[in-house]
Amino acid sequence: MTDQKKIAVVTGSNRGLGTEISRQLSQIGIQVILTSRNETDGLTTKQQLSSEGLDVDYHVLDVTDKVSVENFTNWLRETYGKVDILVNNAGINPTTKPEESSLLTVQLDTMRSTFDTNVLAVLRISQALIPLMKIQNYGRIVNISTEMASLNSVANDYYPLAPSYRLSKLGVNGLTVLLAKELFGSNILVNAYSPGWMKTDMGGDNAPFTAEEGAETAVYLATLPDGGAQGQFFAEMRKFGGPIQLQW
Ligand SMILES: NC(=O)c1ccc[n+]([C@@H]2O[C@H](COP(=O)([O-])OP(=O)(O)OC[C@H]3O[C@@H](n4cnc5c(N)ncnc54)[C@H](OP(=O)(O)O)[C@@H]3O)[C@@H](O)[C@H]2O)c1
Repeated sequence: MTDQKKIAVVTGSNRGLGTEISRQLSQIGIQVILTSRNETDGLTTKQQLSSEGLDVDYHVLDVTDKVSVENFTNWLRETYGKVDILVNNAGINPTTKPEESSLLTVQLDTMRSTFDTNVLAVLRISQALIPLMKIQNYGRIVNISTEMASLNSVANDYYPLAPSYRLSKLGVNGLTVLLAKELFGSNILVNAYSPGWMKTDMGGDNAPFTAEEGAETAVYLATLPDGGAQGQFFAEMRKFGGPIQLQW
């Protein structure tokens, strides 16, 4: 049966939005591969989803580690022979320290590590897995961004400056458009979306949305029909009652 199921990889799915996206994809019959950089954390999440009756697979994956990505890709090829859906969810937001709140004081090391996780790792895992999509000319890539990275509204919005985070997510947006351009005409669709401010470890308790709400747009983009959106930026569906495109 697994052969006929769509196979989805969700990065950083041991907690927060990644777990919820995995849960919702699994609930609609997609074979989800949970991944995490810490194996114990990932297996605990797998156990949690199993206790809910969901059949998810697991493999360790540190998206910033070249060898980890290679090992994961080899395992995926040998075990499933393909991948249909990639959700680039893993991310960091190191803006809690005061010096990280201003471009005049932000540490370049912080910039570098944030870009490494939030942008370069998205490119690395996409480069690794797109060949497993090309085999069947089918793929859906969902990049998790934020409306804080809309260049169109950055000059006027009310969000904190958060330089390393916002600039890295601008990189995610740029990567999404360029990758979609390169894949234009194929059945591999690449889109980004903003899940909204959510109650996760990253979002904190004051956030207005839950991860469950934030995951809806990921499921929508992960299951787009052939000929669906390519290289677009979406808002969280719960807030707008449906798929709404944001301006880059
Ligand atoms: N929360 C919000 O309000 C909000 C808003 C807009 C966008 N987003 C985006 O949504 C995504 C998920 O955020 P979240 O709120 O769920 O954050 P979170 O609770 O902090 O979870 C982040 C996840 O990313 C993983 N991760 C970090 N570095 C990794 C690496 N090198 N390799 C593999 N996994 C790694 C973490 O693993 P560990 O447990 O090992 O650290 C964790 O599973 C992020 O891309 C974030 O930027 C969040």
